[in-house]
Amino acid sequence: MQLPAMRLPSVRLPALPVIPRGLLPLDMFTHERTRDEAARARRLEGLYHVGQEKIWDGRQILKELQTKHGPITLGEGPRRSLAKVFSIIMWGELAAWKVSAQLAERIDPLEAKMAATSQAHDEARHFYVMHDYLDLLALEPPPLDFWSRVVVELAIGTENLAQKIAGMQLQVETIALTIFHKVRELHVEPVLSDLLVYYEKDEARHVGLGVQFLPELLRRMTRFEYARYVTFQLELLLASIAGLKHLEPDLRTLGIDARELIDLGARKQLSFLNDLAQQTGKNPTQPWAGRIFDTAVEAFFPSRDDAKSWNVRGALARARGTFDVLTGRTDGIAAPYRRAALENVERLNAQRRLAAERLSIAL
Ligand SMILES: [Fe+2]
Ligand SMILES: [Fe+2]
Repeated sequence: MQLPAMRLPSVRLPALPVIPRGLLPLDMFTHERTRDEAARARRLEGLYHVGQEKIWDGRQILKELQTKHGPITLGEGPRRSLAKVFSIIMWGELAAWKVSAQLAERIDPLEAKMAATSQAHDEARHFYVMHDYLDLLALEPPPLDFWSRVVVELAIGTENLAQKIAGMQLQVETIALTIFHKVRELHVEPVLSDLLVYYEKDEARHVGLGVQFLPELLRRMTRFEYARYVTFQLELLLASIAGLKHLEPDLRTLGIDARELIDLGARKQLSFLNDLAQQTGKNPTQPWAGRIFDTAVEAFFPSRDDAKSWNVRGALARARGTFDVLTGRTDGIAAPYRRAALENVERLNAQRRLAAERLSIAL
């Protein structure tokens, strides 16, 4: 008997879900680390833990400071200027939040990822607390001006990690820290002065992330990449100067001299330039870029008193002062700090050479 040919019904197995490869850095623990890399990783991890230990409740602190100092009694003019300066800070906090979230997603070493994640949490708090503080001034926060927008969008928009970190963690954070420092020093408004102490402690950790993570990225750069990195920072700094010029009248109302503010910022930068030099053993600044920066500052915020007036004599004095800085006949605003950073790196390298020679004799 012949059985009739049977055709099994065709069964279509459900397609297995496609797992895109490489979305999780599963090999993050397999890399060998040098002693330096391991030490740096511990410092980066420490930033996360300190962030957790020192966390503060923005709503509670603002309420306590209001109770302590009472209602804001600032006059109409300074109140408007304060709202203008600190609305830029508020939008800057939003930008820092965005950048730190990008870093938390994109950087692989676990410890740096932890530090960036902690920063994103801090920046979210900085943003809403600054918004609530500006509410107390009873003024609508003005939108971000053109040049400040250029600055933050450069940092948010770049795909290059080193540019992003140097732009946000080192440049923009330093500008914010400098403004905080000056506003506190001048006792512009007591609630804000006390509030900024909390901000400053957090921001110092964010600068720490840049200082600890950037040297590794700098070491891996080709000459071309390094030139692009320097150009990017210069672009960002020039846009910051233009933004500061736009803000100059409001800073003046608050008793802040814009040129003094730049000088203080350059002094603050020296400490992280020294840290970078310590880790890379190289000059952390480029003389040509520094010269362009100093020239722009001299043109926008002249050092000579006779160059400050808006007449023909003033314009000539300003042009002469700018030319002198450009040609190196006089020191620009940040030249002494760059020189100090270079001297430090030379001293450090000499000490290292000496230590290496001693070691070879001992062996
Ligand atoms: Fe912040
Ligand atoms: Fe920050």
